[in-house]
Amino acid sequence: MSEPLLVLDDVHVHYGVIEAVRGIDLTVGRGEIVTLIGGNGAGKTTTLRAISRIHGPSAGSIRFEGSELTRLRSDQVVDLGIIQVPEGRHIFPSMTVAENLEMGAFSRRRVARRRLAEDLEEVYGLFPVLAERRKQLGGTLSGGEQQMLAMGRALMAKPRLLMLDEPSMGLAPQIVQRVFEVITRINQAGTPILLIEQNAQMALNAAHRGYVIESGAIVLEDEARALLDDDQVRKAYLGEE
Ligand SMILES: Nc1ncnc2c1ncn2[C@@H]1O[C@H](COP(=O)(O)OP(=O)(O)OP(=O)(O)O)[C@@H](O)[C@H]1O
Ligand SMILES: [Mg+2]
Repeated sequence: MSEPLLVLDDVHVHYGVIEAVRGIDLTVGRGEIVTLIGGNGAGKTTTLRAISRIHGPSAGSIRFEGSELTRLRSDQVVDLGIIQVPEGRHIFPSMTVAENLEMGAFSRRRVARRRLAEDLEEVYGLFPVLAERRKQLGGTLSGGEQQMLAMGRALMAKPRLLMLDEPSMGLAPQIVQRVFEVITRINQAGTPILLIEQNAQMALNAAHRGYVIESGAIVLEDEARALLDDDQVRKAYLGEE
């Protein structure tokens, strides 16, 4: 059997002398949604930033389709098709929705304009609210709309792996529902997803498999359905007694 798409093997990440991620193993297979859940400061964003080579890792191996990412720069990781929607979204506030989306295709410099126009229409199909607001400035969108824009911008890069850092953060339950519907649709259209979340309920409902991270270490991993039924997960992450 071939190796999974993404393989983290004993990954450690330090900030100075502080070890924020302490030897984690994690895989994402082709076609999967895999979620990494955990509380504040558990090391979720740190893990994601190590994969995208923004910071770290200090030890361990991260392989993506046979490439060792730890030898690459962050722009080379993007060129491989590993696209991140960061925590807090970071859209361009003084650019329009359409311009923000076009920026997402930056890594595809050699693609014909006609192709990009088609991809743009595909994103508008997935997010009708962005189509209605294509000339509106990014900074004037609501939080939910900004999340849609950040995801749409990532899709413009034609990701081979999409990494989402807490897409539900700060959004009303109804909007969270909508965001997760879109996550499922993106995956069903063929894009593997690594989904980082504090909202364990939503994340485990959407994902195929999940990992629970506490203090920089993986404490549980299983099929998402099994984690939803797990007593430890229910108590710690699903707010049950
Ligand atoms: N740039 C940094 N310098 C020093 N320490 C950092 C830095 N970034 C994160 N940390 C520390 O590393 C640990 C893990 O942080 P991380 O941001 O990965 O957590 P998280 O799981 O994403 O939490 P949250 O759900 O609150 O976003 C925390 O203790 C945090 O304070
Ligand atoms: Mg985080």
